[in-house]
Amino acid sequence: MSQSSLPPPEARRRAEVLRSQLKHHAYLYHVLDDPQIPDGAYDALFHELRGLEETWPQLATADSPTRRVGGHPLAAFAPAAHLDPMLSLKNAFGPGDVADFDRQVREGLGIEGEMDYLAGPKLDGLAIALLYRQGVLVRAATRGDGQQGEEVTAQVSTIRTVPTVLQGDDIPSLLEVRGEVCMLRAAFEAFNRQAREREEKTFANPRNAAAGSLRQLDWRVTAQRPLVLFCHGLGKVEGELPEGQHRVMERMRAWGLPICPRQEVVKGVEGCLAFHARLLADRDLLEYEVDGAVYKVDRLADRERLGARIREPRWAVAHKFPPREAITTVRDIEIQVGRTGALTPVARLEPVVVGGVTVSNATLHNFQELNRKGVQPGDRVAVRRAGDVIPEVVGVVEALSVRVPMAVPTRCPVCGAAVEQPAGEVVARCTGGLVCPAQRREAIRHFASRRALDIEGLGDKLVDSLLNSGLIDTVADLYRLKERRSELAALERMADKSADNLIEALERSRSLPLHRFLFALGVREVGEATARNLADHFRQLSAIEEAGRGELEGVPDVGPKVAAHIEAFFRSPENRAVVERLKAVSRHWQQAEPVVDSSARPLAGRTVVVTGTLQTMTRQQAKVRLEGLGARVSGSVSKRTAFVVAGENPGSKKTTAEVLGVRVVTEAELLRMIGSPEG
Ligand code: IVH
Repeated sequence: MSQSSLPPPEARRRAEVLRSQLKHHAYLYHVLDDPQIPDGAYDALFHELRGLEETWPQLATADSPTRRVGGHPLAAFAPAAHLDPMLSLKNAFGPGDVADFDRQVREGLGIEGEMDYLAGPKLDGLAIALLYRQGVLVRAATRGDGQQGEEVTAQVSTIRTVPTVLQGDDIPSLLEVRGEVCMLRAAFEAFNRQAREREEKTFANPRNAAAGSLRQLDWRVTAQRPLVLFCHGLGKVEGELPEGQHRVMERMRAWGLPICPRQEVVKGVEGCLAFHARLLADRDLLEYEVDGAVYKVDRLADRERLGARIREPRWAVAHKFPPREAITTVRDIEIQVGRTGALTPVARLEPVVVGGVTVSNATLHNFQELNRKGVQPGDRVAVRRAGDVIPEVVGVVEALSVRVPMAVPTRCPVCGAAVEQPAGEVVARCTGGLVCPAQRREAIRHFASRRALDIEGLGDKLVDSLLNSGLIDTVADLYRLKERRSELAALERMADKSADNLIEALERSRSLPLHRFLFALGVREVGEATARNLADHFRQLSAIEEAGRGELEGVPDVGPKVAAHIEAFFRSPENRAVVERLKAVSRHWQQAEPVVDSSARPLAGRTVVVTGTLQTMTRQQAKVRLEGLGARVSGSVSKRTAFVVAGENPGSKKTTAEVLGVRVVTEAELLRMIGSPEG
């Protein structure tokens, strides 16, 4: 199609539709922090419009979303004009796009050889500009439309890692720092879990959580949200700067600014693609949400020569990851009964690929959540899958019919027992206990799971056929399978070899220690950490069985609620019968792991994380010493972490710990705990 030909009416109409849809969705996204379509769907509309406007430039209107950067600021915040416009980034969706970018850069500069790029993660948060005058934070602003944003100084000042005064003496008199406000993934999940429990609005993704938390007129609300800031560049500067961006970043770090992690200088397209592959492989391990890699020409003089287009600089590109969200149709909504009887509405979906994995079921969490989102069979919905988190329905994109709320059933859909939902709780539960086939099945699956008794070969399908054939009824029956070996081998998909393997795995499981057995029993709210604490404290199964609530509450992590669950579990006649039969086949289940010398293993059962640079030893040496004291040393912080040892430049693990309320200790405190490195 030649550029001069007139646009056909369909193209004109389509462009209008696209423009109005894009404006609507940009408003939902940027202003209300409540997107209703995934980012990928927005990008697709945007691309279609840009394609039409490129083919027929006459179609492009002055207010087209392709010429704008973001959304309008909310009237209630004070407007803040940026000293330099806050631009957007052009997207690259594959190696071809990256190669095009690199070629345009080299052509623009007249360079034959390989370029140096500063590669880093594209953080999925809210863009922020911090203005420092004489090293003092005078203003923080959101991006807004790129020219003018909203003043959020009070809100940003509540983020603990943001310095209000910069350190050092080579600080430019005026410095505009650009960065991203993010909510760490663990904090985002925790926030949504709590919001669901309180029947409050959940956020669709960490980006919206960050945006919604920062754009609170009352900064005290912001202060309660676990936000972090990562700086990735500078806007206007009055003063001297080093030549390469990576040197600028080092300088920024020295001033005390929290710098975007994982930035490195790479060479040419190959370097960029290798960086992308490494980052993508680590995506689910990162503590913050990343939706791609950003490559920026490192030399500042080259950036200046390349300049910018309307929305985006020519010297940078965002190489996107596969989206975490997709749109699909709900085939049906079913109710699943979990191990503890919790009823969970689950959407059965037209299979759809999300982040590289095919998803055909997604949780709706509970009935309140289901009805708040108003999901019904036939609806088009957005589905989100992030790493090992269970896929969830984010919201309805296109509703099929009138909304009819779905009532909580009064009877369990599996066993017909009464369903109860105590006042103030969002979870409805089947009261059938182990009489309920669904609870029984989930209890057996849990018992056999890897972190429980690790019974290899006892997968979900086999559990079902063992139950259906009547070979087992409870977990205790598993240990009688060796007497019924021929019946076991005759089951569908089984053979002599697999039957022998299963019997062997069952034999092995008898030798695991008390904490694994306790966890395997599946007492409500007794996770791995609590099971370990109980085993460490009581040492014998019989002591736990007999313990009263008061005594149970003396164990770390065990509050009144958990104590009541433990007591109730061991008082139940059905459970007692199963536990007695298990005791009869137990080898080590009834005792905690032997302690060589309890004073020498003060950290037994505790998980510790070491981060940053230590002065008196390497991290590896610290690990060996901590393990010698019984600790498990892990690479990532969770709320189960006992404490985090933070050296110099600790980075985001320390932040995560602070956000999750996990204790952070200095190297000096660690030395006091473990003695001197030589000792
Ligand atoms: S550099 C000229 N680096 O993505 C724009 N931006 O889509 C230079 N973003 O507004 C931006 N991570 O808020 C840059 N490592 C990173 C980033 C990043 C996230 C945001 C930024 C920008 C938006 C553009």
